[in-house]
Amino acid sequence: MKAFSKSPTAAADEVEAARSFLARASVIIDAKLHELVPVETRAPTHLHQAIRWSLFAGGKRLRPALLLAAGEAFGATHDGLLRSACAFEMVHTYSLIHDDLPAMDDDSLRRGRSTCHVQFGEATAILAGDALQTLAFGAIAEDENLDSDKRVRVISELARAAGTPDGMIAGQCYDLAAESRSVSVQELETIHQHKTGALIRACARCGAIIAGASEHDIENISAYAAHLGLLFQITDDLLDVTSTAEDLGKTPGKDARSQKATYPALYGIEKAHSLAERACEEACAHLDRIETPTPVLRSIARFVLARTT
Ligand code: IPE
Ligand code: IPE
Ligand code: MG
Ligand code: MG
Ligand code: MG
Repeated sequence: MKAFSKSPTAAADEVEAARSFLARASVIIDAKLHELVPVETRAPTHLHQAIRWSLFAGGKRLRPALLLAAGEAFGATHDGLLRSACAFEMVHTYSLIHDDLPAMDDDSLRRGRSTCHVQFGEATAILAGDALQTLAFGAIAEDENLDSDKRVRVISELARAAGTPDGMIAGQCYDLAAESRSVSVQELETIHQHKTGALIRACARCGAIIAGASEHDIENISAYAAHLGLLFQITDDLLDVTSTAEDLGKTPGKDARSQKATYPALYGIEKAHSLAERACEEACAHLDRIETPTPVLRSIARFVLARTT
């Protein structure tokens, strides 16, 4: 309850604080991503153009910003956090490129521009996704600001969260298998926690791990981010129903057309929104169990609940 005891103005201030944190984080993340990804003029140029087309199209950078926020909360500096943060963004962008393919969600608009396969062809889009994934793991393996124990730990967290059976790839599999059939409340939560929640949770964990946070704090950060991940996908589902292509940078209404398993489909818009509020509240309740102040992490949860893009 504590998280929701504030006045609407205080809540709006928190959303604004998160927006400005994300804006500042995006600048340093983008600068590092430019360094880590091959330039477009380097062969194979078509592939590198495709990677950059999708990576530098104006994503929110929520996952890497969350890793920075969690790391900073426990005293880590940018030096130790930045490559890992970028690695998560690369894996996220790969997941979007593959998610949009005709064999998956078959979307033509992403981050306000044509999807990778529409612009560069399917084969190049598949390879661009594959390449982003390997670049991500390489970026952590070669991070001279982390000792080898931490590199291995972050690589392992990323592999589990992005893969299967507990991560994003398993979730994408569940998502596709649930099209055009009814799912239970429990099944829907499982889909969302895997396809979206796992990567978001691992971002927050890795920030705390790099900072050397205690096991108690890492557990609470994990629980916070698991609720944040669910919240993020509930709001994604809601925006698909309520937003416009201009605001979203992707085509709305696709979930209903593809008969996807979503929160609004199962619960209706109002109830889905109240479940989003509850997920936000639960995320913040876990922050309350951490002694270190975590105002940025709290504001990120508020931002995700209120987001319009
Ligand atoms: C979209 O993620 C895909 C989901 C997991 C719901 P974002 O909404 O974070 O996409 P970008 O990175 O801002 O484009
Ligand atoms: C995607 O979920 C989750 C991923 C792992 C990419 P969605 O299919 O709902 O994401 P959008 O709406 O296309 O961004
Ligand atoms: Mg999808
Ligand atoms: Mg999709
Ligand atoms: Mg969606």
